[in-house]
Amino acid sequence: MNPLILRGVRPYGEGDPTDVLIRDGVIAGIGSIEDTGADTDTVDGRGAILLPGFVDLHTHLREPGREDTETIASGSAAAALGGYTAVFAMANTDPVADNAVIVEHVARRGREVGLVDVHPVGAVTVGLKGEKLAELGTMAKAGVRVFSDDGHCVHDPLIMRRALEYSKALDVVVAQHAEEPRLTTGAQAHEGERAARLGLQGWPAAAEEAVVARDCLLAKQVNARLHVCHVSTAGTADVLAWAKARGTDVSAEVTPHHLLLTDDRLETYDPVNKVNPPLRTARDVEELRRALADGVIDCVATDHAPHAVQDKDCEWSAARPGMLGLQTALSIVIRTMVEPGLLTWRGVARVMSERPAEIAGLPDHGRPVAVGEPANLTLVDPDSRWTVRGADFASIAANTPFEGMELPGRVVATLLRGRVTATSGRIPA
Ligand code: DOR
Ligand code: ZN
Repeated sequence: MNPLILRGVRPYGEGDPTDVLIRDGVIAGIGSIEDTGADTDTVDGRGAILLPGFVDLHTHLREPGREDTETIASGSAAAALGGYTAVFAMANTDPVADNAVIVEHVARRGREVGLVDVHPVGAVTVGLKGEKLAELGTMAKAGVRVFSDDGHCVHDPLIMRRALEYSKALDVVVAQHAEEPRLTTGAQAHEGERAARLGLQGWPAAAEEAVVARDCLLAKQVNARLHVCHVSTAGTADVLAWAKARGTDVSAEVTPHHLLLTDDRLETYDPVNKVNPPLRTARDVEELRRALADGVIDCVATDHAPHAVQDKDCEWSAARPGMLGLQTALSIVIRTMVEPGLLTWRGVARVMSERPAEIAGLPDHGRPVAVGEPANLTLVDPDSRWTVRGADFASIAANTPFEGMELPGRVVATLLRGRVTATSGRIPA
């Protein structure tokens, strides 16, 4: 691979534009770089912001089983175009990724595609049924770092306790989709005035908060680490702040859609807005932003959830929950966190790259933009504006709630170990 020079870029959006030399997949120099010869490739940075490549702890790639909505190839392309260099592929595939054969298949397919490091998430329980622990040890030996029944909650406290104990012994992390099923059976939308008026059965905030509180207590009890998926309520942020203050080893993620959208979207009756956990209130959105800025919530994760047209273009109660996220995450974070002054670009690097890489234990992602570090990088043009068109995404599905919105910020280029995996909205041939 030829050496690559990024000309006129601004690491973390700080200081004057500078050059970055990349050789053998590593950042080899930062400063004024002379041409190194005919065999050097160049990217004209035009003052764009250079960040460590983004890491998504929560992506649904749907392969195996629902290749009509996303594949590891199409989802990897969407990730690269969104500025990601590593993604964690959730286990709720068909068949479920609850054994070494499936997780090895997902990892191998990810390597073949080669656009982003695809890390399979292993299921916590067999078939995501919540009844019997899956073989965490065998999957950990196959390289799994994160375990989750996402889509379902590990609701049995004894099974959750055992999973936490094993995760500690195996040095992996359990990521909980917090939802007490006894409180959400049949739920269609955030429990509140709006759902009541529209006649939609409510999904109460306490169904999330109670499980997060319980799991923080369990994690402390057995001295293990816990990760909380897609925090959606102000109350969960309070629980996390309390748990962290008393020394619980807990981390948490928030999705871009929960940072921007509220349950006023219910008025549309358009199932593109149906997601689990549901869109909440304006106050929740405000508190989630504050918690992310303060570090009470550690990171942003997309919960990228592709769905087929027939599973979204139907009545609300029949529609599947979930929305695309990989190609809009950065822009939504700029809109909700950078523009209001809640995060600097260093902060963006923290919540989209450094913390997720630390939580999952990835040594080569989320590293500083510095000489000697792996060239897993994202180059961002903060000033460009674009209009969201789901049909234009690399994803097979098109279920974006941001359709038609004009958003700030575009990915100029994504680099995986020094190789350009996306540039100006395209995957290089
Ligand atoms: O909205 C969601 N969609 N939430 C989940 O927990 C699962 C996901 C999916 O797999 O579609
Ligand atoms: Zn989930």
